[in-house]
Amino acid sequence: GGGDAGGENGAEQPEDGAGLEGRTVTIASDIAYRPFEFMEGGEPVGFDIDLINEIAERAGFEPDIQNVTFDGIIPGLQSGTYDMAISAMTITEEREQQVDFSDPYFNADQSLLVRAGSDIESVDDLADANVGVQLGTTGAMLATEFQSEGRIGELTTFDTIEDAFLALENGQVDAVINDFPVSADRVETSGADLEIVETFPTGEQYGIAFPPDSELREPVNQALAEIKEDGTYAEIYEKWFGQ
Ligand code: ARG
Repeated sequence: GGGDAGGENGAEQPEDGAGLEGRTVTIASDIAYRPFEFMEGGEPVGFDIDLINEIAERAGFEPDIQNVTFDGIIPGLQSGTYDMAISAMTITEEREQQVDFSDPYFNADQSLLVRAGSDIESVDDLADANVGVQLGTTGAMLATEFQSEGRIGELTTFDTIEDAFLALENGQVDAVINDFPVSADRVETSGADLEIVETFPTGEQYGIAFPPDSELREPVNQALAEIKEDGTYAEIYEKWFGQ
């Protein structure tokens, strides 16, 4: 286990460079993305949080999870403000120019979420619609693509997906394009009557992100492989996605 953190500053490198024992690692996440990361009783919880805590324990570092805006994660990794990020972040070619990723840990597609009973049954019904997305996400990129093809009337960009969901629930937008597992969770937990009417098989995979050439990437991949291998991954999956 990690034991007591040796230092409070996550950006500090260990003196001898050997091993991570006792090192505090600053981890960025946009903690408004249930069930991957969300606040409950003042604490971050969720699939990603359980996964990264398990990885930290095995790799021997002390996780210091910071709640940040999703759009600020990659710049914050590049500037060295954060040592890594776990935020349901899709591994994309564009992002791989800027940061490094762990091995994939989750598969997700995009989805079209609407108020139940609305006229919108697919992406073909969005020409006059106002569609909400979260800034800097793959959902926003897909929606921008649809819009450039003339298939979406108006795009409204929100800092958090929570704000986009609220806008859908109160009628400010007509639909939200977002990762399927998160929108499916909203259907379950929303006080409003929502439904997913279409999924887009983008084949996205989530990865943990690092600044280029981080010495943390290899130990994280090793711990992740162990966690998949020994059934711990299945347990965490069952906890957040089981019935
Ligand atoms: N998977 C999508 C992406 O990488 C959305 C991630 C949003 N994550 C979050 N914690 N808000 O762009």
